[in-house]
Amino acid sequence: MIRSVRNPLIQAVRRLHRSSGRLDQGRLLLEGTHLLQEALGLGLRPELVLATPDWLSRHGALSQQLPDSSRLRTASPEVLAAAATTRHPDGVLLTLAVADLPTPAAGASPPDFVLALDRLQDPGNLGTLLRTALAAGVERVWLAEGADPLQPKVLRASSGAALALPIERMTAPELLSRLAGAQACGVQLVAAMVPEVAGEVRPYWELDWCRPTVLLLGNEGAGLAPELARLADRWVTIPHSPAVESLNVAAAAALLLLERPRQAHGRPGP
Ligand SMILES: C[S@@+](CC[C@H](N)C(=O)[O-])C[C@H]1O[C@@H](n2cnc3c(N)ncnc32)[C@H](O)[C@@H]1O
Repeated sequence: MIRSVRNPLIQAVRRLHRSSGRLDQGRLLLEGTHLLQEALGLGLRPELVLATPDWLSRHGALSQQLPDSSRLRTASPEVLAAAATTRHPDGVLLTLAVADLPTPAAGASPPDFVLALDRLQDPGNLGTLLRTALAAGVERVWLAEGADPLQPKVLRASSGAALALPIERMTAPELLSRLAGAQACGVQLVAAMVPEVAGEVRPYWELDWCRPTVLLLGNEGAGLAPELARLADRWVTIPHSPAVESLNVAAAAALLLLERPRQAHGRPGP
């Protein structure tokens, strides 16, 4: 049992709290029983599982499901708490190789449903958005800069959806060219705009969401970058009272993303 926070394994896990550590090691840190279950359910192979003796005695069946390649170590509650980012860890954490996560198939046909996010800052918003995206049938997520999707807060808020979705992080110019490429393949680019924006902005329910679509959402403070908004083919809004300037980006995304399965419901298949 590991009883010292100076243990090199614990030091290496602690470095995964930071983006630079995740990049150096090519690993990410997941915390809690739920994320362990999600990871195993997705067929991902934890490299290291660190658990307290108490957690192990309560979750014998789950620990039996670990692949042979996983290294299971016990740690005292104090050491586990030091290795975790949460205040009250539930007794288990694990590491995964980033290379194990889903990636879009090389040479894949044009995407049917993509969520593109412009410099999303808040990890809670990003995690919530990813969870809704998975629920709505989004196939790929394109992130222009912003919060690191592999940070523990995003992983927790996404309830594991960040592990299931192919997520690509890129620079703003890279997103622009990715969008132009999708557009050239006949995919409609739909920009979500706050209500008071002038121009050809339509209520979101008027759009045909069943066409191949990229939905673009903007940064919490600045909104969508003008060059991204200009590139769009369609501009949609969720009308609401002028008492507020805009909705929270994750709240807006829930309505917009789930409009597609709503419209598809009852339509004959392809
Ligand atoms: C908090 S808002 C940004 C507000 C910012 N001051 C602006 O002018 O765009 C973040 C993003 O959420 C989306 N959003 C927020 N409210 C919306 C609404 N009512 N309809 C459609 N999208 C909305 C937009 O994509 C927006 O860029």
